[in-house]
Amino acid sequence: MQDNLLTLRVDRREPQTADIAVIDLVALDGSELPPFEAGAHIDIYLGEGLIRQYSLSNAPGERHRYRLGVLLDPGSRGGSRAVHDTLHEGAELKASAPRNLFPLVSSTHTLLTGGGIGITPMIAMAYELQAAGRSFELHYCSRSREKAAFIDELESTFGDALVLHFDDGDASQRLDIDAVLATQPSDTHLYVCGPTGFMNWVIGAAKQAQWPNAQVHSEFFTAEVDTSGGAFEVEAAISGVTVQVEEGMSIANALKAAGVKVNVSCEEGVCGTCICDVIEGTPDHRDQFLSNEEKEDNDQIAVCCSRAKSPRLVIDI
Ligand code: FES
Repeated sequence: MQDNLLTLRVDRREPQTADIAVIDLVALDGSELPPFEAGAHIDIYLGEGLIRQYSLSNAPGERHRYRLGVLLDPGSRGGSRAVHDTLHEGAELKASAPRNLFPLVSSTHTLLTGGGIGITPMIAMAYELQAAGRSFELHYCSRSREKAAFIDELESTFGDALVLHFDDGDASQRLDIDAVLATQPSDTHLYVCGPTGFMNWVIGAAKQAQWPNAQVHSEFFTAEVDTSGGAFEVEAAISGVTVQVEEGMSIANALKAAGVKVNVSCEEGVCGTCICDVIEGTPDHRDQFLSNEEKEDNDQIAVCCSRAKSPRLVIDI
């Protein structure tokens, strides 16, 4: 476990839909929490090596709480299930201080798109933009009103800047992403978060409409890890250990089995915890964390999921 973790207590837990719990975390001693910016997340330690990242959804000016919205994912590998089963009011837990890998940048107008539980970082962004008097619009896509959390708060706080899209019923309510992208000022920045299919759809539409990569920002919650591909060798230069990474095995696990300490968190290529410098060889990037430009540089690798195009990699660990 990392040093300098916060000890938090579940102050309030509200089941906002059948499978979404909204959870307020406060400092155990009631003191102010470290500040955060919109887009930030915290790592929650759920026991037995289970660490998961959750975006903060409250207004970034607040110092008395961190608010999470956690969807119980039927395909959960343990994270959301552990949150729903154990984080009841009064429960204590360890968490990291906020980290922001999804920050807002300055622009004339900001287009926020959240699919399902991917609305959580968008809410913090909308609060920050509203407080700064900046122009934005917030599109919230959900199957139905019943499945959508935070609705009353969003409607009363953001008024006309909020556009709701419920795609289970009336087709006319669905987000027409092409039309929305087409009407934006040219320096608009787009932010998207949600299920992988939703994100790929929005990002693909922006690409199709020739939006510059630098104006499209995304945060993946979960990702499927493709571990296929032949074996290769990895030398951990600092540790002086060389391992063979077989098909179906990750570099991180091969190194851990050989006694090398490797920091991992999501193990799905989305959080960036495991990124190492590459000294020699060519990575086969499988993560969602590094940008396309960073991947092209081939000097960093997410060792929880990425592999090698060359027979051998030397990494700085
Ligand atoms: S552990 Fe999260 S990207 Fe590798």
